Amino acid sequence: MNKGIAIYPGSFDPPTNGHLDLMERGSKIFEELVVAILRNSEKSPMFSVAERLEMLRALTGHLKNVRIDTFDGLMVEYAKSMDAVCILRGIRAISDYEYELQMALMNRKLEPTLETVFMMPADKYSYVSSRLVREVAQAGGPVKGLVPEMVEQKLREKLEPAYRFHDKMHEVPPGIPGGKEKKRKKRA
Ligand code: PNS
Repeated sequence: MNKGIAIYPGSFDPPTNGHLDLMERGSKIFEELVVAILRNSEKSPMFSVAERLEMLRALTGHLKNVRIDTFDGLMVEYAKSMDAVCILRGIRAISDYEYELQMALMNRKLEPTLETVFMMPADKYSYVSSRLVREVAQAGGPVKGLVPEMVEQKLREKLEPAYRFHDKMHEVPPGIPGGKEKKRKKRA
């Protein structure tokens, strides 16, 4: 394989353990891996670009050939400006394939010299997506093991009211076995 620069583009809102797994794998194959956060996403993101940049920089600090950047407009234009030889994308299940194939072929049409390389994250992350992580976290559910601890913490900070509501809902009321029974003072 040509060991040049590869771009790993995405929204990373938020970064998941699956993304991190792919970055680690990619960093072993390419000379340099540039993780590129899309800036002009139409969706209203949960984390600002600055927050995602900061999280990803901290999370990849141990990967010396991984750089975090942001981009706007056409990804292939950005990739060319970085002298990249390929685009890295992750495929989890066959359901990802259709969208990824479409995107890869469109990118090839736009820039025939740029190849897309697909890699699979560890199977334990095959169901993890940023969208599902957001959905679970927004409802106050646990995302431990799906995202790095730092991201889990940031989600908690951002969604504090949702987590408080969830914890309250799951409190066992007094009088129910396992609940927080007030200890009665023993009569003398
Ligand atoms: O993590 P995501 O949201 O699936 O990433 C999608 C992304 C950012 C890679 C894609 O939307 C993209 O490259 N957007 C930039 C605009 C562009 O180049 N579009 C043509 C590609 S088909």
